[in-house]
Amino acid sequence: MGAYREAYERSVTDPAGFWRDAAGAVDWIRPPDRILDDSEAPIFRWFPGATLNTCHNALDRHVHSGRGDQPALIHDSPVTGTARTWTYRELRDEVAVFAGALRRLGVERGDRVVIYMAMVPEAVVAMLACARLGAVHSVVFGGFGPRELAARIDDARPRVIVAGSCGIEAGRVVPYQPMLAAALAESAHAPSHCVILQRPQAPAELVPGRDLSWADAIDGAQPADCVPVAATDPLYILYTSGTTGRPKGVVRDNGGHAVALRWSMENIFGVRAGEVFWAASDVGWVVGHSYIVYGPLLTGATTILYEGKPVGTPDAGAFWRVVAEHRVAAMFTAPTAIRAIRKEDPDGHLLAGYDVSGLRTLFLAGERLDTQTYLWAQNLLGVPVVDNWWQTETGWPIAASPRGLEPLPTRPGSPSVPMPGYRVRVVAPDGTDVAPEAEGAIVLGLPLPPGCLPTLWRDDERYVRSYLSQFPGNYLTGDGGAFDADGYLYVLGRTDDVINVAGHRLSTGAMEEVLAAHPAVAECAVIGVDDPLKGQVPRGFVVLRNDVADDPVRLRSELVAWVRDRIGPVASLRRVDVIDALPKTRSGKILRGTMRGIADGRAEPVPATIENPAVLEALRPVLRSPR
Ligand code: COA
Ligand code: AMP
Repeated sequence: MGAYREAYERSVTDPAGFWRDAAGAVDWIRPPDRILDDSEAPIFRWFPGATLNTCHNALDRHVHSGRGDQPALIHDSPVTGTARTWTYRELRDEVAVFAGALRRLGVERGDRVVIYMAMVPEAVVAMLACARLGAVHSVVFGGFGPRELAARIDDARPRVIVAGSCGIEAGRVVPYQPMLAAALAESAHAPSHCVILQRPQAPAELVPGRDLSWADAIDGAQPADCVPVAATDPLYILYTSGTTGRPKGVVRDNGGHAVALRWSMENIFGVRAGEVFWAASDVGWVVGHSYIVYGPLLTGATTILYEGKPVGTPDAGAFWRVVAEHRVAAMFTAPTAIRAIRKEDPDGHLLAGYDVSGLRTLFLAGERLDTQTYLWAQNLLGVPVVDNWWQTETGWPIAASPRGLEPLPTRPGSPSVPMPGYRVRVVAPDGTDVAPEAEGAIVLGLPLPPGCLPTLWRDDERYVRSYLSQFPGNYLTGDGGAFDADGYLYVLGRTDDVINVAGHRLSTGAMEEVLAAHPAVAECAVIGVDDPLKGQVPRGFVVLRNDVADDPVRLRSELVAWVRDRIGPVASLRRVDVIDALPKTRSGKILRGTMRGIADGRAEPVPATIENPAVLEALRPVLRSPR
């Protein structure tokens, strides 16, 4: 039996033994004696009774063990033309001071801190400072606008918000202050303090009494020590898009998270202490949390925070420059980034001149990896390209080829095999396993392994309802797929209204709520349609109120701006069509799946349940028309 099979079998037959061993790689204050608490199933807790501090494990521990002078964090920022490295000691010291600054503002163990920043090192410092205090951070992606920010503030109820004065997108500065102001005005739980990182590109106007600059916040602050927390205490909340407009507050605990990430770095990503790991994602997404910040630092590796794009900063060779300059051993990004590079530099000319010989593996995740992109990257770089499938909820790969444990051969179109701890099943609507090659819903048998969400923030009921009730005893991933005869998994896409745009997870439901709130709109639908670069993009369809005599062309662009201003530019909703009616079933359900199929050019049958086939026929040319 190979190492993978052996580890996998043990993880499902003796999960307590498997994770007890893995927990040995973490520094505990009170080590775990019990491994799994199943007394409140279907809600499970890993390592009950144990205590630790995640920031200690990410920073102090390495300083104590002789890695103090090793680079911990490299901020490489082509958009500002700067690059800077922090050693473990320097990063520990800055984090301790900022933790002291937060404490001065009243932040204590269990309090929430919302972080709304671009890819600046202070974002990492703020996250780790929260972990140091046992406070709970909730990072909001900078591409989200006021409505999304307000929803997160109201759910998390932070004591402090830490924000940047601006982000820098290729070619433009994005001031955050107006978005923060609009979000605070909208939210019912605005905190009394905001710490604002003043960036020279667009300093913010501070609100006296409420705001203080980062520089003032740390001025004279006493460095704070690591506060012991329970393994089961929350480390962070990361909001993610669900099917409704209300984002889900995915909770990550301290103990299970540290154990699982540490295990995954070595066994899945094949990266060890002292090596350089680069996840070209954003700290606002789960990939950024797990593999820019916590995974590499828990491992004693060097991590890169890249403030730039795959293309345009300055060209499609940017990724190869970073890999060469920092001697990256393994990198992680989304397929969309590779597609963007390939579009601009199809023959890979820009790779020439960069020594990327240190790169062992390219990991891709966040959306389906199409075969062309997989093969192109593999041929260009001459290293294995490892598709891995997971979600915000799980925090680390559900399926992959475990490069450290046993580098199983990869297959195009498949993120390979289930990782230890995950009982992956493909089931029919009645919950029975389907045969190999047959498609079904992908579910995970409970308990989920350490590191996965124990629940949603202060909402066990929603957690159970959304994920655990459709197939009792299993967690519903929301993805459909199939196993092949050899046990390789194929993930075919979401079975709900979540879409994936350029590796960003978005909710069509949220966009519909925003469109529906426009005074001219009577009814609307938003669907995700295939896109060669971004994987999917949203398209909106609105039916106007009878009393609206607006020019449809003007309205279309107004509605695009309306969504962008509220959800944020990342929504990427560029096209809204004004139509006469939406196709529905007789019970009034909008036929989004049929619309999506037609837009993607599939021969979509007219559903038997349709209320009025003529409505669908009228819409067909609009759906088919080029974008
Ligand atoms: N702050 C402010 N605005 C942001 C932002 C941020 N953090 N991130 C994105 N935006 C803006 C973009 O500037 C763009 O604005 P525009 O409409 O004015 O052009 C809009 O949101 C849409 O962004 P995006 O979908 O990312 O498209 P893009 O054309 O800017 O870039 C790619 C396309 C493929 C280069 C880019 O999406 C990319 O690098 N994707 C990789 C994604 C990734 O790392 N995902 C994380 C999971 S691993
Ligand atoms: P997020 O929560 O943002 O990580 O998005 C999770 C969703 O992205 C999953 O439910 C999938 O739909 C999709 N996804 C992530 N990785 C992959 C992958 N490797 N292959 C196919 N889909 C993926």
